[in-house]
Amino acid sequence: MRTPIIAGNWKMFKTVGEATAFIQEVKGKAEVDGVESVICAPYTSLPALIQAVKDTTLKVGAQNLHWEDGGAFTGEISGAMLKDLGVDYVIIGHSERRAYFAETDENVNKKVHAAFKHGLLPIVCVGESLEEREAGKTKDVCRVQTEAALQGLSAEQAAQVVVAYEPIWAIGTGKTSTAEDAADVIGYIRERISAVFGGEVAGKVRIQYGGSVKPNNIREFMQKEDIDGALVGGASLEPASYVQLVEGAR
Ligand code: 13P
Repeated sequence: MRTPIIAGNWKMFKTVGEATAFIQEVKGKAEVDGVESVICAPYTSLPALIQAVKDTTLKVGAQNLHWEDGGAFTGEISGAMLKDLGVDYVIIGHSERRAYFAETDENVNKKVHAAFKHGLLPIVCVGESLEEREAGKTKDVCRVQTEAALQGLSAEQAAQVVVAYEPIWAIGTGKTSTAEDAADVIGYIRERISAVFGGEVAGKVRIQYGGSVKPNNIREFMQKEDIDGALVGGASLEPASYVQLVEGAR
């Protein structure tokens, strides 16, 4: 049995005060038996969030890391620094980072290795653009991105990866994949993981859907056996909405 995981990706939103106020609102409510609940916040809010979630089951994630432990990389943050704060998860390879910050499959793979080196669990994002979808390349794109991201991991590590299938055209647009379509692509991603790491590993990897997930559609996705949760942007920013997302994953 895979534990469903709801992760809020706050992107570049919320001051420290707003972040801690959010936790006060969702404490005890976005904590549902059998569902893992993770807030992925900007670096600046992470220390305060880690304080705020003490004595709760809520977890905290970052949205990026550098693959080196340290060095002359102005503006970057390493896995060692995130672990030192007490961060649990880190989003890697989000399509916004691939599109605006030149993140490549090779960098994504280095970051995944760095996450494991420092005891962080990666949430690896994959997904096709509208152009790729219309050209019938959805599964190819997801295969290449998934295999590249997981390259060189041990079976034990691969089993702990969370993959987020996020079709780029569904992010922030109010358009979603149908649950059937998302489950089809996610099933294919699991098949590819099975081809590389074996069925036992593939059966353990949690694969989320992301892209305009809202309280009113989360259940459709969660009804699909292969879909193990959601990575949510906009609808994770309001406490009441976030609570409903976690409840919807039960
Ligand atoms: P939205 O939920 O705002 O579409 O964002 C999805 C996303 O990019 C999560 O990482």
